[in-house]
Amino acid sequence: MTSLPDRVRIFDTTLRDGEQSPGCSMGLDGKLEMARQLARLRVDIIEAGFPAVSEGDREAVRAIAREVEGPRIAALARCVPADIEAAWDALADAPRPRLHVFLATSALHRQYKLRMAKREILRRAVESVAAARERTDDVEFSPEDGSRTEPDFLAEVVERVIEAGATTVNIPDTVGYTMPQEFSALIRRLRATVNGIENAVISVHCHNDLGMAVANSLAAVGAGARQVECTVNGIGERAGNASLEEVVMALRTRRDLFEVDTGVETREIHASSRLLTRITGAVVQRNKAIVGRNAFAHEAGIHQHGVLRHRATYEIMRPEDVGAAGNELVLGKHSGRHALRSRLEEIGFAPAEAEMDEIFVQFKRLADRIGEIGDADLTALMGQRRVAPPPS
Ligand code: KIV
Ligand code: ZN
Repeated sequence: MTSLPDRVRIFDTTLRDGEQSPGCSMGLDGKLEMARQLARLRVDIIEAGFPAVSEGDREAVRAIAREVEGPRIAALARCVPADIEAAWDALADAPRPRLHVFLATSALHRQYKLRMAKREILRRAVESVAAARERTDDVEFSPEDGSRTEPDFLAEVVERVIEAGATTVNIPDTVGYTMPQEFSALIRRLRATVNGIENAVISVHCHNDLGMAVANSLAAVGAGARQVECTVNGIGERAGNASLEEVVMALRTRRDLFEVDTGVETREIHASSRLLTRITGAVVQRNKAIVGRNAFAHEAGIHQHGVLRHRATYEIMRPEDVGAAGNELVLGKHSGRHALRSRLEEIGFAPAEAEMDEIFVQFKRLADRIGEIGDADLTALMGQRRVAPPPS
């Protein structure tokens, strides 16, 4: 096998697969604003839409292709001439366009959805890739439901589309069914058995139906995939796509293991997540990795004590590296004296050590009553102490 580049391309499909999901639709202005942010995030490819599905998608792809600089701009098309034409037309002004054509290959899809035999699938895939290559030299092919396709047939399709000119072959786990060890073995098998595989970038596109999208994407990178398709906040069909921020930060934090880099400007991650929430109204769960409100918050006393002494005790990433404001020590009933004293000092109080026992008891009582304790509650607590009559 030939040696692999140590750079993994990040293909963002927030505006296509992400936008396809209920509750995440975006208008033209929102898509453009998000695409500009994705350029600041320095993703390699933005999949801007699926022009054949609607006039809105066509307009959005056209506007992004015209106005957004930096990443390659991709548009999706089924393996039918009208789709390819619509996608190419929408990409007309892109300095670096990519045509992404797809066709389902699994037995289930062949039999029930497409009613096509294997031979017909191969013919359509090859003809469509060749038609796309007449327009641009950057063509991606996706065998939809690839992870559930018979491996020998999948290998045959991949080989034939590379011969026809595909420069990226994307293996989708369309229904989020595969598992990391299985997906890794599939990617290794394709690398070992497909003639000409070294002439294309292997990409993966994982859905999260069993919560495995990121794990499967990372397993594929370990097996030699060099493009990962993902979305900001993990939005996408059903349970979503692999989350961009999790894939990128896992590769970065465990560079010792994966030995690859992405070109992503990680300090733009939080801004991207917040902008998407603002545009779609789809809020991020509080404990979501990397971008959830709790991702860098510590409440347990032992953890707070550790972080105050040395942040690496309980933090594997620095909040500033993903553009988050900073680690947050949330004061509540699990917090300890160290964290309480530290916060009191930060907001201007300097309690004597002798006072701390009593302040700590009052603090715990309050936390039991109201839960999370903010700076205003602490100030009120300290104020009450000042006016409290001296003990008789
Ligand atoms: O999930 C899927 O298979 C897709 C393809 C179009 C890549 O979104
Ligand atoms: Zn998908």
